[in-house]
Amino acid sequence: MNLKLSTRLDGVAESATLKMNAAARELSAKGVKVYNLTAGEPDFPVLAPVKEAAIGAITGDFNKYTPVNGTLELRKAISKKFLKDNALEYAPEDVIVSAGAKQDIFNFLLAVVSPGDEVIIPGPYWVSYPDMVKLAGGVPVTIDAPASHGYKITPEQLKGALTKRTRAVILNSPSNPTGGVYSRAEQAQLAKVLEGTDAWVVSDEIYEKLVYDGEFASFASLSSDAFARTLTVNGFSKTYSMTGWRLGYAAGPKKLIAAMALLQGQSTSGASSIAQKAALAALELPDGAFRPMVEAFRKRRDRMAEIFSQGGGNFSFVRPAGAFYFFLNVERAYGKSYNHDQLIAGSDDMAFYLLNTAHVGTVAGKGFGADDCLRLSFAVSDAEVEEGSKRIVEAVEKLK
Ligand SMILES: Cc1ncc(COP(=O)(O)O)c(C=O)c1O
Repeated sequence: MNLKLSTRLDGVAESATLKMNAAARELSAKGVKVYNLTAGEPDFPVLAPVKEAAIGAITGDFNKYTPVNGTLELRKAISKKFLKDNALEYAPEDVIVSAGAKQDIFNFLLAVVSPGDEVIIPGPYWVSYPDMVKLAGGVPVTIDAPASHGYKITPEQLKGALTKRTRAVILNSPSNPTGGVYSRAEQAQLAKVLEGTDAWVVSDEIYEKLVYDGEFASFASLSSDAFARTLTVNGFSKTYSMTGWRLGYAAGPKKLIAAMALLQGQSTSGASSIAQKAALAALELPDGAFRPMVEAFRKRRDRMAEIFSQGGGNFSFVRPAGAFYFFLNVERAYGKSYNHDQLIAGSDDMAFYLLNTAHVGTVAGKGFGADDCLRLSFAVSDAEVEEGSKRIVEAVEKLK
């Protein structure tokens, strides 16, 4: 028998973040206390009104398939949110609700990418973007945004990456993994470069509410040109701690939303009816509802910055302005060893060393296109941030 898998999967990697999270959990399962800084989700609970709405949906028999693009009441609430928070005028018909922002981005790529089309991705990037582009038959074109520029690309870099084959550009501010936040003016410069091109833009705004320095701006709100070419993506995972509920949404030009709905209708259909009722309650929460979480994240970020600044000169970093990740440069330790001959040659070795000797789970930067760094989540308890960071400092000091 020769049962084959599709060539579509050739060159597609397992998500580095999920892989490290699994390794850290495996060690915990053996009874080892692991300081797990790999999490891509808040440690805060889902707020009570959201839980109650979900329970109400179940007891109220809200069990049936919903429309493919989401319930009208939720799309209306999302359209109101866009106007209030982002000054974006999307009608409910311009909105699609999906099983996570991840599905929206995937649907988008399947809808617009033809074989060989290029999709520009500023790096360091969220691990899934390049692999999703490959699955859609496209070619990821990454641009390296240097730490010296806050891990943000310049208009000149974007211009240099555009070709006749460019089909789309994926922007993510605040960024996973760097925490970089583009100012309105910086985004406006990028928008200007795209004028006159046929490039779509995905603006992945899933960390919108998690901003500690500076101000969040929606790419589509920059100009009518930006509005016409942009798919604005957001979701409930990060702001409302609803990662497991699987609910995201996107809004954009009618032609694009219709194509995405066509794909969704032939694959997963509408998102969970229960999660959609819960999401409606989430959008009705008062503005300050998630502020305690944001303040807790800010304090943890500041504490990490303090610990690594005093880290014996082994580290450097750009202080994250948003999201909940600390992107720590550890390359000064590369070339050093432990146990006499175990060489640390890159971020995979470093993440492995820290997990197995210091029992700290981190994610190697390699999967994000930055082998000089580790990604540390501060969406974990204060104690884990404190002890995990200190253990990293001590473990790196021990390398010879
Ligand atoms: C940048 C970015 N976009 C999208 C997602 C996916 O979010 P969702 O849970 O809504 O699929 C994540 C999750 O880690 C993310 O970091």
